[in-house]
Amino acid sequence: MCIIFMQMEKQNFKSLISFKNTQNSSETYTPLVNAMFAYKNNPCTGFHIPGHNRGQGVLKEFSSLIGSDALNLDTTDEFDNLGTLFPSTGAIDEAQRLASAAFGSKRTFFLTGGSTIANLALAFGLTRPGDKIVIGRNCHRSVLSGMIISGANPHWLMPKKLDNWAIYGAVNPVELRKTLEENPDTSLVWVTNPTYEGVVSDIEAIARVCHEFDAALIVDEAHGCLWNFSDVLPKPALKCGADAVVHSLHKTGGSMTQSSMLHISKTSRFDEHKIEHALKLLHTTSPSLLLLTSLDAARAFLSSNDGALAIENALDNALYFREEASKIAGVRVLNSMSNVSFDVTKIFLKVEGLSGKRLESILELDFSIEIESASDEGILILSNIGNTQEEFDVLIDALKKIASGNYPDLSYLEEVKFMPLTAPKVVMTPREAYFSKKERIKKEDAIGRVCAEVIALCPPGISVLLPGELIGEEHLPYLSDFSEIDVLVK
Ligand SMILES: Cc1ncc(COP(=O)(O)O)c(C=O)c1O
Repeated sequence: MCIIFMQMEKQNFKSLISFKNTQNSSETYTPLVNAMFAYKNNPCTGFHIPGHNRGQGVLKEFSSLIGSDALNLDTTDEFDNLGTLFPSTGAIDEAQRLASAAFGSKRTFFLTGGSTIANLALAFGLTRPGDKIVIGRNCHRSVLSGMIISGANPHWLMPKKLDNWAIYGAVNPVELRKTLEENPDTSLVWVTNPTYEGVVSDIEAIARVCHEFDAALIVDEAHGCLWNFSDVLPKPALKCGADAVVHSLHKTGGSMTQSSMLHISKTSRFDEHKIEHALKLLHTTSPSLLLLTSLDAARAFLSSNDGALAIENALDNALYFREEASKIAGVRVLNSMSNVSFDVTKIFLKVEGLSGKRLESILELDFSIEIESASDEGILILSNIGNTQEEFDVLIDALKKIASGNYPDLSYLEEVKFMPLTAPKVVMTPREAYFSKKERIKKEDAIGRVCAEVIALCPPGISVLLPGELIGEEHLPYLSDFSEIDVLVK
């Protein structure tokens, strides 16, 4: 710890912080951002990790690539009066409490291993071998990895499909009720909302059903962290009765890559200490202060007037783009329809005659435009808080040229398949299969065998096949990247 701050009275430290905040003309208080300012402006002689010691021990080219400030600020918790993550103390604790207040949770954890670590910890901390957990099949593979770690038994809930677009739709509360009636021993329901492509489920209705059956509800809202900050966007799960909610702030909330939050709701039936213990066991013991600080900054930004404006712009741009793109002959945009509602900032579209993968590569190679992702059917575009309308104009222009141009699809790309969207045939739990004796065989010989590996291509990390599931003919088209597969020994 730096002596200068060890000696500093907490009150003095706080007044230093408020001074900086008024200078920034921000209404919001940012303990971690300010602690890092203080750290930067009051360097100590350090004899601790990271060994590059504020950038003195790194390749010059790397230093000039990322800048001396980034290296100077690359530190972990424990040191220099920045606080600790587990247990949470000091500025880190303060920043987490402010985030908890901003999101309306009982407790919020900052994480530097993405939402992946949040899902792993929820599974590890809250479920036990044999527990029956109802999970939406469109869950991220980290939920499944959590099941392998804990030994819980997933019972798959198939969301509705949007067949013409080859994507998963919403989870139907009526279907969920039926599933819980048939599986009254379910202790937990885990749904992903919104879907990667922005389809929104009715979480209030889902929560009501869960709680009626005495099952807790986790909502993986990895792609929905902006919802808390806009009345125009869908209602956030923390306000809809979920017991725990996962947010990838780094995806759309403006924090740095890998930084996420895990929230326990005010009405949660979970023991927050169980979750904290699981996080302690799974999370890195050297969290990046840069990432943690970016969470503090993102929370403050999203709560500020500037943040509100940025979200409004993202919404305006999305609506503008949706309208303009829909006017282009040959372009079809997935818009809200009866019974399907969307987070409008996530825009899925296709161009007639081109696979999504082909469209993605044309945009990249001929127009230097990078989109979020592509499937066989279409492409996903995000209208972010960091995008401008001018950027959308560039994209509209490119789509006009492509739709009216002479871009043939390429037949080899037709082999690319995204997700089968079929109900899995489960033979045993993922954990049982994962730890059983395996062999690696040619994919063509794998039909009728039990899969022993997780096949979930990223993005979006949704499973095609999981350990313990029967491999069928229908899976083969979706395994174009595989020549061999791990299966259980007969
Ligand atoms: C729904 C969902 N949950 C969790 C994750 C994992 O998030 P992260 O990349 O922050 O670890 C993803 C990643 O794409 C996701 O789509």
